[in-house]
Amino acid sequence: MTKRKVEVCFSPELVHLHELENKIVVVVDIFRATSTMIAALGNGVTSITPVADLETCRAMQSKGYVIAGERNGQTAEGFTLGNSPLAYLDGAYTNQKIAMTTTNGTLAIEKSKAGSKEVLIGAFVNLRATAYYLTSQNHDVLIHCAGWKGKFNLEDSLYAGALVSLLEENFEFDCDGAIAMKGLYESNKSDLAGFLAQASHAKRLQNHQIEADIDFCLSLDLFPIIGKLQDQELVAQMIKTK
Ligand code: MLT
Repeated sequence: MTKRKVEVCFSPELVHLHELENKIVVVVDIFRATSTMIAALGNGVTSITPVADLETCRAMQSKGYVIAGERNGQTAEGFTLGNSPLAYLDGAYTNQKIAMTTTNGTLAIEKSKAGSKEVLIGAFVNLRATAYYLTSQNHDVLIHCAGWKGKFNLEDSLYAGALVSLLEENFEFDCDGAIAMKGLYESNKSDLAGFLAQASHAKRLQNHQIEADIDFCLSLDLFPIIGKLQDQELVAQMIKTK
């Protein structure tokens, strides 16, 4: 296989500047949307349907979906679940279909669909599985950071650096963002939690007293799965890395 390319987009507001055609797009929202989605898929939910707005998501309850809604870090009014990965542990929603809307993550997924070959969701909790899968595919990769309301954020960008670092052997990067984030990740990987404690959304979440969510989202490789968009649903695919 020839070397493929990997590049980084730092916000859904910038994604129009990138070519999506024939690429695998990895959407990342470490705090917390994509970490929560991988936790849910890794704990046996059947699928997650990402929905951009609250009303559409709420209406899906009558179609048999468990509805999860978050805005500004808090559970949206009238929703069964918010955006905590911990809610899905111990198989609490096994075999159920989830409809989910969040402030930034589900929007980034929506904006990744047009023209791309495939959309994955990535998180530290399935970092190696995602890297392994991407290495096995013959496609260029765009890592799409959800950011916060259109702005750059530290945690998604650092994940991009971690993924680039694992892909380096088989991918080339002529993207300054990828080079910068790989360097930032490699200089901080021995204390990710310490470095990311200064991230603005980590502080926002700490104000809501959900430090346990932050710890979870920064755990590495808990799930040997990838999360892949098939039709309009995210589903899990098991990855054997050895
Ligand atoms: C988002 O999609 O904006 C986030 O996941 C926010 C959060 O719940 O922490």
